[in-house]
Amino acid sequence: MEKDKYILAIETSCDETAVAIIKNGREIIANVVASQIESHKRFGGVVPEIASRHHVEQMTVVLEEAFSESLLTWDDIDAIAVTEGPGLVGALLIGVSTAKALAFAKHKPLVGVHHIAGHIYANRFEREFAFPLLALVVSGGHTELILMREHGNFAVIGETRDDAAGEAYDKVARMLELPYPGGPQIDRLASTGKETIAFPRAWLEEGSYDFSFSGLKSSVINTIHNAKQRGETLRKEDIAASFQASVVEVLTEKTYKAAMEYGVKQVIVAGGVAANQGLRTALDQRFADTGIPLLIPPLKLCTDNAAMIGAAGTIFYEQGKRAGWDMNAHPGLLLT
Ligand code: KG4
Ligand code: ZN
Repeated sequence: MEKDKYILAIETSCDETAVAIIKNGREIIANVVASQIESHKRFGGVVPEIASRHHVEQMTVVLEEAFSESLLTWDDIDAIAVTEGPGLVGALLIGVSTAKALAFAKHKPLVGVHHIAGHIYANRFEREFAFPLLALVVSGGHTELILMREHGNFAVIGETRDDAAGEAYDKVARMLELPYPGGPQIDRLASTGKETIAFPRAWLEEGSYDFSFSGLKSSVINTIHNAKQRGETLRKEDIAASFQASVVEVLTEKTYKAAMEYGVKQVIVAGGVAANQGLRTALDQRFADTGIPLLIPPLKLCTDNAAMIGAAGTIFYEQGKRAGWDMNAHPGLLLT
């Protein structure tokens, strides 16, 4: 029988300091996430310098907590995986430096992981992948349709030309004076509102799997301003529901078309916006009669965590991918 593999994973690309220990790529032994949301809330978004400082303060605490949760010791750990990009450079650097120092001191192999590969692999805790598969990645920094033909192989077939879906959610939430992060707030309001405003859908050219959310965002701003000038008050719930309807329809239709064109065996939804109830329901309905299984991670694995980095890191480790001591933080790292 093959020996169990334990990967220690670190994620610090944005505002969560996270450490996890993963067994054989699919079992979570420990998963600790220290969120900084409270510190960034009053600024209405993530402040990079504050994020880095928090990561420095939290890293050792989170690491120790992960080990105590796991009941394992360093002797059990086979390799260390860390997010090397994309993300905030100062934030990424704390994770990368920690991983390098630990790998050096404890004589462990080091594996670099792309943050989005992590989001996709969060789904492997639920079910084994079947290829080809299509992943819709929707987060604060990303909106991409990715075709995977095998493990560790990522082809981007569509991406946003401007704002990411989560970014659009957060910006619209700010206009509605909702607290950061706005995505969950809009999702909650939308569930009680009605689609009373016909916001545009950015389909782009025929056959394109790219996205665009800046026109929608401007349309929401204009609608709010015009209403104010006329002395009208729009219900926040209805603006939220109308905005969400536009985002969800475009995401769902493009994902459906791509899934049909490429004849995929699974559709995966990943990233923070995968937590969106409206999107989950719409995708569920769209794929209900197709026979194609739809995989969406449980809520706590949708937003940033290190378990997902460990899941992807295990695959890369098994494929023999190793990072050297010259590994660096790559804020604009591409998924290849
Ligand atoms: O993946 P994530 O935690 O961090 C990035 O890698 O960006 O995603 C965070 C994003 C934020 O923009 C947040 O507003 C959005 O995910 N988000 C949501 C929901 N929950 C989180 N957007 C819409 N509906 C939600 N329920
Ligand atoms: Zn993320």
